[in-house]
Amino acid sequence: MNDRILRYGIVGVGLMGREHIRILSLIPNVEVAAFYDPDQTSRTQASELIPTAKAYDDFDKFCKRDDIDALIISSPNHTHAEMLPKLIHNNQHILIEKPLATSIKDAKMISDLLHNYPGVVWTGMEYRYAPPVSYAINEAHLGTIGQIHMLSIREHRHPFLPKIGDWNRFNRNTGGTLVEKCCHFFDLMRFILKSDPVSVFGSGSIGLNHKNESYDSETPDILDNAFVIVDFDSGARAMLDLCMFAEQSTEQTEIQIVGEAGKIECRQPSSTVTIGLREDSWPDWKLGDYRNPSRIKKINVPIQSDIASGHGGATYYEHLGFIEAIMNNQPPQVTADDGLWSVVMGLAAEKSVQEKRVVEIQEVLQ
Ligand SMILES: NC(=O)c1ccc[n+]([C@@H]2O[C@H](COP(=O)([O-])OP(=O)(O)OC[C@H]3O[C@@H](n4cnc5c(N)ncnc54)[C@H](O)[C@@H]3O)[C@@H](O)[C@H]2O)c1
Repeated sequence: MNDRILRYGIVGVGLMGREHIRILSLIPNVEVAAFYDPDQTSRTQASELIPTAKAYDDFDKFCKRDDIDALIISSPNHTHAEMLPKLIHNNQHILIEKPLATSIKDAKMISDLLHNYPGVVWTGMEYRYAPPVSYAINEAHLGTIGQIHMLSIREHRHPFLPKIGDWNRFNRNTGGTLVEKCCHFFDLMRFILKSDPVSVFGSGSIGLNHKNESYDSETPDILDNAFVIVDFDSGARAMLDLCMFAEQSTEQTEIQIVGEAGKIECRQPSSTVTIGLREDSWPDWKLGDYRNPSRIKKINVPIQSDIASGHGGATYYEHLGFIEAIMNNQPPQVTADDGLWSVVMGLAAEKSVQEKRVVEIQEVLQ
């Protein structure tokens, strides 16, 4: 493998599939050789980006290609489980977009199918790789702020964009907003805390978005705002604050990690990280003197301009990790099991919102 080009096949070349094509074009020794998409407009737009790749409108013919080293599955969420078994006959390496699937049954099926699979299997949890986020995670894992007790993630952003066939307007296609969008944040929680969740409590609603839209006389049923609290096995707790009608926020994503020895804050898109350390021992302070600016450091994390359009650099670094795992025969950094956990947490949160009660992870897993 080391002395030749790594050949990719892509399933689904909508917004995300084309982002993969653009980002792969920046990486040496890889090429997108083929893609499949049932939609003519998506195929045309992808061909404009990569005219040398063969465009398929027939899934079975695409599956017959036997010269593909790595597959990217970037079709809508509800199609992943159905297509995967037919795609993997050549043991190709696989990067499967988040969320792995829209139900626990399908996510488990995928995770079981790919257990002991000979190729690299990587779930597309790329938020781990956004430069300020990976900087903050690295500091947390180095122990800079000691044992972590609390983690909060605030995502205040624009509504969901329109998608091909409007698939993302309905829970049955996405798994629900807390799966579709928030699997990223639940994955970050598990990854940062290095612990598995025990229970989830969520409160959310359809506040503002998509209420005036209609698709074959059906109105979208997806949440657009929620608070979700997750208790972890380690004793730590995490909270998600999601609002999808807050596009005028200064920052879209804010992550606060609080440990015994201090606090790490991470912000996007300003791409800044702040690390504040507590005094080694409780100081002899008088009221108003407890905040010591000399113990707070603000870091601007640079992002190369050519990769910034791929989710703030995250897609580029995700691909470097995937390629490194393939080339060096290493385990993936984001496994199918990680993908399964993030779906489990998202579905538990959706259930909690619907039933207005704490949901134990065990009851969702059964
Ligand atoms: N990692 C991330 O941050 C991130 C960001 C956006 C989307 N995604 C994921 O990527 C996937 C695609 O999302 P998108 O935003 O590109 O949506 P999209 O609607 O823009 O594109 C989806 C494409 O898949 C095609 N398609 C539909 N059914 C198909 C099938 N059975 N086989 C192959 N192609 C099919 C559609 O024609 C369309 O071109 C989803 O799973 C989504 O959750 C991930």
